[in-house]
Amino acid sequence: MITSTAEAAGDGADSGAAHSTMTHPPRSLLLAIESSCDETAAAVFDSEQSCIGNVVCSQIDIHARYGGVVPELASRNHVMAIADVVRRALDEAGADQEHIGAVAVTAGPGLVGSLLVGLEFAKGFCFAHDLPLIEVNHLDGHIQAPRLRTAQGFDEPVWPALALVVSGGHTSLYRCEAPGDYTEIGWTLDDAAGEAFDKVSKRLGLGYPGGAVIDGLAKKGDPAAIDFPRPMLKKPGHHFSFSGVKTAVAYHLDRVGAVEGEALNDLAASFQEAVAEILAIRTVSAARKHGLGHIIVSGGVACNSRLRALMKERAAHRGITVSVPPPGLCTDNAAMIGVAAWARASAAMRAGGGFAQHRVNARSSWFAGRR
Ligand code: KG4
Ligand code: ZN
Repeated sequence: MITSTAEAAGDGADSGAAHSTMTHPPRSLLLAIESSCDETAAAVFDSEQSCIGNVVCSQIDIHARYGGVVPELASRNHVMAIADVVRRALDEAGADQEHIGAVAVTAGPGLVGSLLVGLEFAKGFCFAHDLPLIEVNHLDGHIQAPRLRTAQGFDEPVWPALALVVSGGHTSLYRCEAPGDYTEIGWTLDDAAGEAFDKVSKRLGLGYPGGAVIDGLAKKGDPAAIDFPRPMLKKPGHHFSFSGVKTAVAYHLDRVGAVEGEALNDLAASFQEAVAEILAIRTVSAARKHGLGHIIVSGGVACNSRLRALMKERAAHRGITVSVPPPGLCTDNAAMIGVAAWARASAAMRAGGGFAQHRVNARSSWFAGRR
């Protein structure tokens, strides 16, 4: 499934891009590419740092029948999609290859086979046009996603800030001094929060990925119906744990048997409430402990309606402000990669740099900052 600006949530502000009617000077635009997991994505930025093209091609339909991402299939589908996705992003920006002055690309963390497709495409593009290549950490992209200029303006977080990156592969807290300057102060000791959503969804027979489905059912359920545990809340430090909540759901199902209708809605709402509470309580408490007055929430699970509301509610209660990107920019996309690369890319373009980064390689694991 391909989403472009015009289609994304039916609103240019949500996709982070606005259609360009300008003609662009040669080598003035930034092309960003993301392929770390199962989304092939490209975005184009103009010299004002506005995102003027943003296309995401999701492979969810392909992996759904296997109940999770199949790495080999993901790589193959990236290969088939990438040229078309870049072409569409350029078209949306009203641009052509000669307008590109630098390319930013996700180099990790992620599935190596998937990363390599975007990375080698970017290298080839840069080699052919003699352009600088900027490697970007995927998690840095998620942290900087709220900085995207949208039709509604420029939502610059207040730095220093605390960032919660919460997705299918990660659940981490970062103390952020400024864009790109991070210390990871908390992480999950077992499952990522999105992984817990996906595993619970699978157990309930609701398919993959499960976050959005559970979010939908939870709207009709009672979050207080089942008292699932909130692990780690009483422990010092800022780490998370979600496998206990997931196991509690499995024990509940072993006890009561298959659930449907109202019982299913109640279970979804109670599970979601437990995960949202753990995330919100732990994040707000880490911000207070570190004296930070601003929280960034990003990654696929940041689409969750209850988490978005609860985080804002609990933070406001403590006088802390919150930035959360629109849902289309919480899940994987290339616009966030462009924003994270922007300062380095514009410096390289100003310096007139050419292609010199032959050695940039895919990294399956790559911390965003210090630990
Ligand atoms: O950031 P993302 O697109 O990919 C990774 O880097 O993992 O996040 C995907 C994850 C999946 O686990 C999915 O179930 C979860 O985000 N997700 C949600 C919602 N929408 C997506 N989780 C809870 N509520 C949602 N509305
Ligand atoms: Zn991600």
